[in-house]
Formats: sequence, C-alpha cells, structure tokens
Amino acid sequence: MQRNDQTLTTSFYGTSDVSLVDFKESCERNTPVEGYPLAKGVVSNVVVYDGDDIRQHPDSARAFQDEMANVLLHGPGVFAVKRFFADTAVIDEMSQVFEDILEAERGFGAGDHFGKTGPQANGRIWNVFQKSADAAPSTFVDYYKNPLLQLVSEAWLGPHYQVTAQVNIVRPGGEAQVSHRDYHLGFQQPQETARYPLHIQQMSAMLTLQGAVAHTDMPIESGPTKLLPYSQHYPLGYMAYHDPSFQRYFEENYVQVALEKGDAVFFNPALFHAAGANKTQDFHRSANLLQVSSTFAKPMETVNLAHISQIIYPYLFDAWRHSALSDDEKSSIITAASDGYSFPSNLDTDPPIGGLAPESMSALLKRALDSGWTSDEYQVAVSQLQTKQQA
Ligand SMILES: [Fe+2]
Repeated sequence: MQRNDQTLTTSFYGTSDVSLVDFKESCERNTPVEGYPLAKGVVSNVVVYDGDDIRQHPDSARAFQDEMANVLLHGPGVFAVKRFFADTAVIDEMSQVFEDILEAERGFGAGDHFGKTGPQANGRIWNVFQKSADAAPSTFVDYYKNPLLQLVSEAWLGPHYQVTAQVNIVRPGGEAQVSHRDYHLGFQQPQETARYPLHIQQMSAMLTLQGAVAHTDMPIESGPTKLLPYSQHYPLGYMAYHDPSFQRYFEENYVQVALEKGDAVFFNPALFHAAGANKTQDFHRSANLLQVSSTFAKPMETVNLAHISQIIYPYLFDAWRHSALSDDEKSSIITAASDGYSFPSNLDTDPPIGGLAPESMSALLKRALDSGWTSDEYQVAVSQLQTKQQA
C-alpha cells in the first residue's frame, strides 16, 4: 500500500507498516538551485547560505526565513550557513569554556545516546547552555547574541523559542553514530512511537530545529554529520529509523558537507542523520549542537532561564548602558536567555494586565534593562514573577 502523504487515511500504524520502497521514493529527489534564489548554492542536495549575505541584507530577513522554512518543510530538510558567526574569536572563547567544563566532567561527559561512551569515545556535555552561562556569563552573552540564531530559529519555530545546547567532540578514531531522527520521537523506542497517531508524530517535527555550530573546521575525513536529504518526508520514519534495512539504505546514500569553524548546519529533526566517523589521526572535531524548541513544546533538557538571566544580568546591563549591542543582538540574547512566553502560569495570582497574557520573563528583563534596574532589583522582580506563576 502507498504510504505517502496524500494516501494516508488512518491514524495509527505499527512497526511492520514501514516500507523501504516508499522511503526511497521520498528520498530520491534533487535540489534545484533555482528553487532557492537567496542561497549561495547547493552542495550534495544541501542548500547553502552565506551568513555575510544575510547580515548585509537586513531588509531581506523575512525572505531568507521564508526560503529556509521552505527548505526544511518541503525541500531537502537541511541547510548550511557559511560564516554563521561573523567573528570566530567568540567561537574560540566558547571552545575554551567547553574544554574547562569537559575537564571537570572527567574528559568525556555523561555519554552519547547514539554512540559509544567512555574515555576513548565521543565527548559530550549535556546542557552546556546553562553550564556555559554559569562558567562564563560574558562569553555566553557574546555567543548567544548572534542575530542569525534568532533569524534561523524563528524561520522554523516563530518567536519565543527555547534554546538548549550540547557539545559533541569526536576524537580521532571516533566511530560514527547509528542513523536516527532527533527529539522528540527520535528518543523513543518504535513501540512507544506507534502509540502516537501519525499526525502527532509528523507535527512533533515542527516543534524543534536541530542545528550544529562548527567549533573546529570539519573536513570530510573528520566526519561532519552524515545527512539523508528529503528523508524527513517519509511519514513513518520515526518507527522506520530503527529498522536495519533503513539504516543500510542510509549508509549507502548519505551525504556530508564540509564545514569551517563558525559555519553552521540546521535541519528538520525528522531528517535521518548521524555523526560521522573521525578518520583522522590527531584531529578533534568539535560542534555545539543546538536544539531549539518551539515555545509550545517541552524541551529535552531542563534549563533554568530565571537563573541564567540573573547570572548574565550584570554583563547584559553593562552592554545595554554602553550601547554595545545592536537591536537585533538585544532581541537575540533576550530570547535565548529568558522565557518569552507567559504560560503556564497561575492566572489568579498572575493576571493578564493590559492585554490577554501576563508579562513574560523576557518582557520583564527588557523592562529592567531599559529602565536601568540594578542586578538586585531584577533578581527580586524575577523571583516575584516565579512565585506568582506557581499554583
Ligand atoms: Fe542526532
């Protein structure tokens, strides 16, 4: 039976319903460069943008977002952004912060879901987003103020998105991951996935944007992410990715895009992908994996945004006062470092004032910075907000 989008009429499917023939039909397409006029080009079916182009054409921001959303939803499902960071000095600063955190975590972190763990295996730092804010608040501000992070995140998720981040370091000789889809249902066994109606499985991919910022150059031999363009289109893929025949097809057909330090790649979390093997003798490949969630979703990791916004407040206040941030940078760092959504709350104690929604933490943070509040004043206000929101 055909199981493409147009012919699906039932809601529940089992693991035996997956079809490699249908999957191949989904994947075997080409990316026409003329379909993406704002891109710099197409490499191995992956659309490539240039961060400098985006920064130099602020009036075209919405057009870039339209095109990127189209890539993720209807197109190959993955795009790269060259020079995602205009200045790689902040990448190096953050890499040093990662090294210090990794050292404190015995050199290899807590392990990688889709690969091996241990001293010889891939290094992994979970929740490096909050850990880096604690360890180096000014570096955190410089890194997450990047307006391109807001541009690509809002292209897929709209406003008030929630950032989580994990570091992945693949050492020389580090093995590849098994091909998979990502959070949400990429972190479930197929029998559990089958309990969700198909429309929810498909909708869940719209709740996350998966990304990776290259913290080192990533030549092909160092194993940049293996990607299967268009694989996000296969409706039953959250069950199918566990199947060995799909994993074999992935190994025979994946593509890789070499990156340079400061470049980034973003993809639909339903895209089949896997970290590649590091075949070099002495090159440690390092990426900051960004998992950006819709404000309507439960992120994978608990991030204490009240805490982060308080930790960075003195640095942010200083930058605000000295006009060191552009409007786009202000917006990007506030979105990353605070909760922009007013719900869930306790509407008895936190009633909407002057509108339909109560004041969010982001609105409070902006008000504090614009009004010149001290750190202590902001800390009291955000604590009061949290108390009001509790039931
Ligand atoms: Fe992944």
